[in-house]
Amino acid sequence: MENENSELKITVTHNGPLIVEGTYKLIDKDGKETTETGKTALCRCGHSHHKPFCDGTHVKIHFDDTADNKDDK
Ligand code: FES
Repeated sequence: MENENSELKITVTHNGPLIVEGTYKLIDKDGKETTETGKTALCRCGHSHHKPFCDGTHVKIHFDDTADNKDDK
């Protein structure tokens, strides 16, 4: 069941994951869809061992989100 009035909030954290809050549909690489409600963290550093979810590895590798913009100049 979908609620058109539900709000999806995505927060970009400093040197960390994307925090997704609300009701969302997650489609995996094989096309399998699941609808979730709540709060989850999606990996932004690319090094999680549980993609697409954050497993905290960004802390171990000292992920620096400012490094993403070095080639934008
Ligand atoms: S952002 Fe946390 S493991 Fe990648």
